[in-house]
Amino acid sequence: MRTLIKNGKIVTEAQVYSGDILVEDGKIKEIGTGLSDRDADVIDASGKYVLPGAVDVHTHMDLQAGRYRAVDDFYDGTVAAACGGTTTIVDHMAFGPAGCSLWHQVEEYHRLADGKAVIDYGFHGVIQHVDDSDLKEMNEIAEKEGITSFKAYMTYDFMLKDDQLFRVLREAGKDGIVIAVHCENDGVIGYLRGKYKDEGHTEPKYHPLSRPAGCEAEAVSRILHLAAMADDAPLYIVHLSGREGLEEVIKARRSGQKHFAVETCTQYLTLTDDLYQDDREGLKAIMSPPLRKKEDQDALWKALSDGVLDVVATDHCPFNYEVEKQAGAKDFTVCPNGAPGVEERLRVMYSEGVAKKRITLPQLVKYLCTNPARMYGLYPEKGALLPGSDADLVIFDPAKEKVLTHRDMHSAVDYTCYEGMNVKGDIDLVMQRGKTIVKDNVFLGKKGDGKYLKRSKSVLAE
Ligand code: URP
Ligand code: ZN
Ligand code: ZN
Repeated sequence: MRTLIKNGKIVTEAQVYSGDILVEDGKIKEIGTGLSDRDADVIDASGKYVLPGAVDVHTHMDLQAGRYRAVDDFYDGTVAAACGGTTTIVDHMAFGPAGCSLWHQVEEYHRLADGKAVIDYGFHGVIQHVDDSDLKEMNEIAEKEGITSFKAYMTYDFMLKDDQLFRVLREAGKDGIVIAVHCENDGVIGYLRGKYKDEGHTEPKYHPLSRPAGCEAEAVSRILHLAAMADDAPLYIVHLSGREGLEEVIKARRSGQKHFAVETCTQYLTLTDDLYQDDREGLKAIMSPPLRKKEDQDALWKALSDGVLDVVATDHCPFNYEVEKQAGAKDFTVCPNGAPGVEERLRVMYSEGVAKKRITLPQLVKYLCTNPARMYGLYPEKGALLPGSDADLVIFDPAKEKVLTHRDMHSAVDYTCYEGMNVKGDIDLVMQRGKTIVKDNVFLGKKGDGKYLKRSKSVLAE
């Protein structure tokens, strides 16, 4: 089966050029001008951009977080992703039971995702304690399952202490495994949360005050130093939210530290902590790290424009406002943390980034498609429009305009943080491995059609 996409403006991380793309058996067979194929289905992409299918390397589908479960399972969540132009996710596993083998969550996540996901998917492992057998299993899982990245936390219940982080980084580095780290100083957060609670200050507006930007900066600085001391171990900093943390990143880059990458997320670029002044909007936006200020946003956009950051992901972790989030209505400390975003990312980033000239179109592709694939061992099958790559692509119409609203979205969650946002441009069509899975915001794919991705090693390990 062949499809010919004619006359599109093809966007790569390096350039925008006019051309045709011939797709055969799920792969890009040829890219050129004036291509013809009498037997192929033809899609006219005149006046439209053709982008690689976006890759979201930070989602939490079906996440069990304490008493609460994120409301998107791997079906609803990946339908939402597909309708937002994302054709690959790498999902972060939840913590398993205390003391469990690392295999426990690998098996659990196959149970949750296999036969359900509608787009291609991989997993990041999770390291929640450290002993010899964990380190051995980490290597085994990387080899057998292609799970070549593991996440560690510097806060939350199963946080790792510095000696554990150092040990994990050192061992992972030897095997070319990337450690992705949630960076926040747990001691300060614990103290501030307790203090606000004791004082009766439990409205959503105290959530960001309990997790100041300095907490992130301190932890970012610490993990960068730990990775440097661990023989320059491959490190990936997730969801960077603030200017102070960014300054630590810039310092490390200037010092010549290599083998690390830094992610920010759509919400830190486009929403601010003003939302917490309203209890309702604030509750919806309780996530960690919290939303920051306009100055932080400006610094993050500049860092994207300057190439200091590497990836824009979503940290998609949806809980219903009317149900789970209500737990925090009277006490932010018990509110499940996280917000939806997997469906909104491409539209919001095109409109707020490219249309507002904060980043270029090739940079959009670099941060949402190519770099995430590269960082997590999926390039060039994913994240690129090259002969031989998987035919995962988005046809995007820059002339369209729309108002984002939850009513048009596909996630199981009951709100979007971007309600009412006017966005320039829209997605016409999404193709996965040669098959059109979304057209005009209607999902046409099939449950279980997503393929589990055994990933190669990251470029960070080179
Ligand atoms: O608040 C958030 N981000 N929840 C999801 C888990 C995490 O920290 O990434
Ligand atoms: Zn996190
Ligand atoms: Zn997360």
